[in-house]
Amino acid sequence: MTLVAAAAEHVKNTHGHLDILVNNAGVAGDPWKGNETLREKFEYLYNTNVFGTAVNIDAFIPLIKVSKAPAPGRRIVMVSSGLGSLASTLKNEYPEAELFVPYSTSKTALNSLALHYMQQLKEDKSAVVVVCPGHCSTNLNEYVGARDPRDGAMELYTAATQGGMEMSGKWIRSGEELRW
Ligand SMILES: NC(=O)c1ccc[n+]([C@@H]2O[C@H](COP(=O)([O-])OP(=O)(O)OC[C@H]3O[C@@H](n4cnc5c(N)ncnc54)[C@H](OP(=O)(O)O)[C@@H]3O)[C@@H](O)[C@H]2O)c1
Repeated sequence: MTLVAAAAEHVKNTHGHLDILVNNAGVAGDPWKGNETLREKFEYLYNTNVFGTAVNIDAFIPLIKVSKAPAPGRRIVMVSSGLGSLASTLKNEYPEAELFVPYSTSKTALNSLALHYMQQLKEDKSAVVVVCPGHCSTNLNEYVGARDPRDGAMELYTAATQGGMEMSGKWIRSGEELRW
């Protein structure tokens, strides 16, 4: 049994259901040593940021579907990045994104995953909300981020608890909707 399957089994046996799933796990580039191929970099980034998230959601969806949580509960939160915005890429709003093509595109793929699951879960009245924590000072960026990670965590909290089904399919940061 995989770790993800074991985690879902544990939640099932302990609680019988899950109200909110937050997919926060992500990597940005470390621990690259400099001699990795581009394929290895893409594989490393997509493995956690995309494949891992999809597998995680798949394992927990049955438990979310049996949740009896009233609004604003019953939802999946995806932690994305502004670097993954196609609209911003088109306008070259984050020129530095070019330095992080595997990371940025992995977040674009994550956004796409979110919209597919949003459609799948509509009838079950479970929401899928995408959030960007902003550029926070964390291990991910060797603590160069400008934002206090507690503010980033508040963004996740808001995405997990604010509103009801009307939040599904939205990508939010600081109370604003971001462009896909
Ligand atoms: N920091 C920013 O400026 C920023 C901006 C936009 C979006 N984000 C997103 O915010 C999320 C959180 O990042 P962070 O900034 O808090 O970075 P972080 O401090 O490096 O935390 C990343 C977390 O993901 C976990 N993780 C990484 N790979 C995993 C895997 N394969 N399986 C399970 N867990 C794994 C790590 O666990 P371990 O500690 O056990 O390795 C850690 O708890 C990420 O999705 C990131 O892309 C961050």
